[in-house]
Amino acid sequence: MSKFDFDKVTNHFITSGFLYQGSEIYGGLSNTWDYGPLGSEVKRNIEKMWWKKFIQESPTNVGIDAAILMNPKVWEATGHVSTFNDPLLDCKDCKMRFRADQLIEKQFPDADIAGLNDEQLMDFIRNNDVKCPNCGGTNFTDIRKFNMMFKTHIGVTEDSKSVVYLRPETAQGVFVNFKNILRTTRRKLPIGICNVGKAFRNEITPGQMTFRMREFTQMEMEFFCKPGEDLKWFDFWKKRCLDFVADLGIKKEDLRFRDHEPAELAFYSKATTDIEYRFPFGWGEVWGIADRTDYDLKRHATYSGEPLDYFDPETNEKYVPFCIEPSVGLDRLILMTLCNAYDEEAIGENDSRIVMHLVPSLAPYKVAVLPLSKKLEEKAQEVQKILSTYMTTVYDDTGSIGKRYRRQDAIGTPYCVTVDFNTLEDSSVTIRDRDTMQQIRLQITDLEKYLSVKVFY
Ligand code: GLY
Repeated sequence: MSKFDFDKVTNHFITSGFLYQGSEIYGGLSNTWDYGPLGSEVKRNIEKMWWKKFIQESPTNVGIDAAILMNPKVWEATGHVSTFNDPLLDCKDCKMRFRADQLIEKQFPDADIAGLNDEQLMDFIRNNDVKCPNCGGTNFTDIRKFNMMFKTHIGVTEDSKSVVYLRPETAQGVFVNFKNILRTTRRKLPIGICNVGKAFRNEITPGQMTFRMREFTQMEMEFFCKPGEDLKWFDFWKKRCLDFVADLGIKKEDLRFRDHEPAELAFYSKATTDIEYRFPFGWGEVWGIADRTDYDLKRHATYSGEPLDYFDPETNEKYVPFCIEPSVGLDRLILMTLCNAYDEEAIGENDSRIVMHLVPSLAPYKVAVLPLSKKLEEKAQEVQKILSTYMTTVYDDTGSIGKRYRRQDAIGTPYCVTVDFNTLEDSSVTIRDRDTMQQIRLQITDLEKYLSVKVFY
């Protein structure tokens, strides 16, 4: 686990430009975050890496880019309109609102409340004297259901017929296109269909920076297979997902699988496993791998009237495929990767540095170009121009060279190229490695070859 506390590392992410509080100059907007120049690069890098592993390197799979707004019948078919609810209650004394299960879990961490219905949760709260975390009172309302989908209106009228929802998961863009995709790609089962994009949930208790947000980016795959082969594929994708997390450089001891108990399974799932990471604030889910069975396709077939079964040319059978779904929040992967990379190291007796040991392919800048003197600006900019056609670069000519190295360490830049007066003589530069702090000398013409193998995934 990170030896640093969460506030400390997240403060570094904010002050160095990975993340900013959303709408900050207006006092912010509850738990919204913007990725800054550094964070947006990391975000792109992780998304690209995911696309590569789950589409480019997975010959059974394809990707789509589906719309956020969908016909509202989609969410009736999936059950989200009726069952995507949080059990909420208010403190009658201070008017604060809480999620009943979270209220209990915080005060009774060992209580087994998975699977309790609202009445049972309420009994637990009353019988165990659960207190309002804000005012200490025990005077709560009954639990009420609160649907977590954001509602808006399409067109100019605001009547119930114009209601649409911001999608609470990207998965449904895949299910509703299942027929289109099979027809246009002429693929057979098994097929994995991936979709990346924003999803929205009106969480009552977001928090832990970008760990739980109301607006977040999901990267989901729906992998359709023959019924009966689903558990085999469930195990296969579990392993691929864990491999991916390892590729992000995450330490093994900070990862674990957690199988869901039957009582906590989502309404559509036969089996679910989470990959959890040990964040500085404790274990948290980063990836959910679920066996969604034939639930979604069957529900859409019923609600839309379109048959969504599959004719298997090998067995001449018709069936509704089963679906394995590895679903990951990109924002959580980023937060995990940044927390995992953060370190503070002593250098010699009297010096120290903050260093982000990011896997080079994930670093915002792959290389920093540093002229030793302002007089070397022309040559240094020439070097940056050459490198910037291949990789992300940053230029820094202010402060001592030692300070500049520290600045790059603190944002995870894996290599610094220093242009000095010898460069003018023999076209060689110094390359410094972030992790070892060792330096070597190379010809400018060899830089691209040397760096490319190190910084690309
Ligand atoms: N599609 C699963 C989820 O959004 O949690």
